Amino acid sequence: MHDLDLTAASGTSQLTAVVVGHCARKLPRPVEAVAARLAAGTISGPQTVVSDDGTFLLVKPEAKPWLTGGEEWRVLGAQIVDGARAQKVAAATVLVEGAQAKVEAIAEGCLLGDYRFDLLRSGEAAKRPRLTVRIPGFTREVAAGAAIAKAQNLARELADLPGNLLNPQTFAARAVKELRGSGARVRVISGTVRLRRAGFPGLAQVGQAGSAEPQLVEIRYVPAKAKRGAPHLAIVGKGITFDSGGISLKPGDKMWEMKGDMSGAAATLAAVNRIVREKPDYPVSAFLCLAENMPDSRAQRPGDIYRARNGKTIHVDNTDAEGRLVLADVLTYAAETGATHMVDLATLTGACVVALGEHVAGALGRHDEWTRQVREAGQAVGEELWPLPLHGEYRKLLDHAHADINNIGGRYGGALTAGIFLSEFVPAEVKWVHLDIAGPAMATSGWRFYAKGFTGFGTRTLIELARGFGKR
Ligand code: BES
Ligand code: MN
Ligand code: ZN
Repeated sequence: MHDLDLTAASGTSQLTAVVVGHCARKLPRPVEAVAARLAAGTISGPQTVVSDDGTFLLVKPEAKPWLTGGEEWRVLGAQIVDGARAQKVAAATVLVEGAQAKVEAIAEGCLLGDYRFDLLRSGEAAKRPRLTVRIPGFTREVAAGAAIAKAQNLARELADLPGNLLNPQTFAARAVKELRGSGARVRVISGTVRLRRAGFPGLAQVGQAGSAEPQLVEIRYVPAKAKRGAPHLAIVGKGITFDSGGISLKPGDKMWEMKGDMSGAAATLAAVNRIVREKPDYPVSAFLCLAENMPDSRAQRPGDIYRARNGKTIHVDNTDAEGRLVLADVLTYAAETGATHMVDLATLTGACVVALGEHVAGALGRHDEWTRQVREAGQAVGEELWPLPLHGEYRKLLDHAHADINNIGGRYGGALTAGIFLSEFVPAEVKWVHLDIAGPAMATSGWRFYAKGFTGFGTRTLIELARGFGKR
């Protein structure tokens, strides 16, 4: 996954990357001249200058109103790595200083920008030379940035892995492996029979025709010295390892993208693995709702009615609205186990992408203060979340004559009716926010520092949220 070594140690290198405006070091004349033009804005973009004193790469952070939470520094990190790879050097040294520079974000950008999903490529295409990027003097920043970026790149790898290789079973096994030594306890409820018995009919319904059995991964962290009355954070991720739509089959065009319909669970796993290793002083739990949504003779049918964990009956109008079914019982369960604050992450609706586009996630919650906190965590790390209303008047769009609730609403407001559906399974007193990441989970053709593929969106927001949660 990482052909890049990021270090704060100085040493030999064949390329010097200069962060223009944040470097007081004396530079060779021809380099200074280009740096001055870049600083003045007469030229823009990364500049390579070959001088007698070596090769220099000049980069400048491009402030844009939409690049919040250090994003321009991540972009810059990616530019440095791209430039170093283009020059085919073995090592590059970054010259940066000053309090204004966000070195942690540069470090993140280096690793996020260098990520490629080439696990399954052969021969030359699979091999990328090892590259060392040195950011001398920034031990803490490099370590902190690398930890976050590596977590996010794990989420990306899981999402990029195709459905034949990452199914509910292999995902669960991978989660167990990744969490080893983290201090969290992991329990896996495996297969439709056990899931039904344990009270998770939604996961069983959706996953019963999958090529591998559905799984619920329950991750629990309890601090050594629990503060009395400490709040309890729970994170729930949608993990459909492939969403064909089921009997309500999707059209074939771009159906492959649905291998990433477990992006919520991937970000949940990646983030919680980081969060628990930081040993917060409040309990944290996380749930991965893993199933493969497939059509066959065992599949659930449109028209099926089943009783959810909280006693409500659900009419399955459309088997392609499966995310809400796998999440519903788990949200109820998370509340039963004492969660006071919850976030769920899900590539839930195409409608959310229509509403907010590919780069902004929807945030739907009943408690404005908690919704605001989640949103601010996103803003602080460059992930844009925008509130959508759980408009009560639309509840009737989910009415059904034969069951307590239908699993799809009308033609319009699909992201909202999906959120309203979920809210029916969360007790009113629990502070809960639903994040619909259907847009930003995937970079359809490359985005900022993301190569084409899945982004691991939400990982950084969750880690940031958990850090702030501890300071409440
Ligand atoms: N996983 C999809 C949503 C999705 C669509 C994610 C595009 C990413 C990109 C979800 O399970 C789904 O199929 N939703 C349906 C809901 C509809 C049947 C009410 C949708 O959005 O069309
Ligand atoms: Mn679907
Ligand atoms: Zn789906």
